[in-house]
Amino acid sequence: MPPSPEVTIRRIGGAQEQEACARLMARSEPWLTLRRDAARLRRMLADETKEVYVAVVGEAVAGLIVIDMQGACSGYIQAVCVVPRGRGQGVGGVLLDFAEARIFREKPNVFLCVSSFNQGARRFYLRRGYEEVGVLKDYIVAGYDEILLRKSIAPWDAFEPQPTG
Ligand SMILES: CC(C)(COP(=O)(O)OP(=O)(O)OC[C@H]1O[C@@H](n2cnc3c(N)ncnc32)[C@H](O)[C@@H]1OP(=O)(O)O)[C@@H](O)C(=O)NCCC(=O)NCCS
Repeated sequence: MPPSPEVTIRRIGGAQEQEACARLMARSEPWLTLRRDAARLRRMLADETKEVYVAVVGEAVAGLIVIDMQGACSGYIQAVCVVPRGRGQGVGGVLLDFAEARIFREKPNVFLCVSSFNQGARRFYLRRGYEEVGVLKDYIVAGYDEILLRKSIAPWDAFEPQPTG
């Protein structure tokens, strides 16, 4: 395996970077099978209620992660994607570690969904301590399920959010 590249994480840039990231996802599984096109993915990346971060290697965006800190399953990782030629080199792990640290400052759980057909990603999450807690049958497209995953550091009752500032 090649050595892990030097990765920095920052917020996603403006419309041009959002468009490039949307196109990256739209060309990749699982979004191809889930029929999420670039226009729809761009709206998700531009949604200011979400937190979108990119991984940068050298000068280039090598991946992205989308976090939702609102709603019933807050602390939800809505998407993570690494550029195809950069996969298997640790970039996804750096993005996931970053997102978990950010979420665990405020919430005791990280949630995410993985498609039933996405075996590589399922393995990736299970190795990182996620537990499969539910199956959402035929959730996005008929014939495929979304598996709800959770990683927890404490019950809500025992959880102390970190002070901000
Ligand atoms: C899943 C993904 C984000 C992991 O990022 P990454 O940078 O390849 O991950 P790392 O190098 O840190 O770790 C590699 C792990 O990802 C798994 N993986 C999943 N899809 C992979 C792919 N297409 N290429 C290489 N590794 C992949 C590998 O099996 C490996 O897991 P293992 O260590 O348990 O064997 C990335 O492969 C990707 O963007 N896949 C396509 C989009 C996707 O499936 N996103 C998840 C949606 S829920």
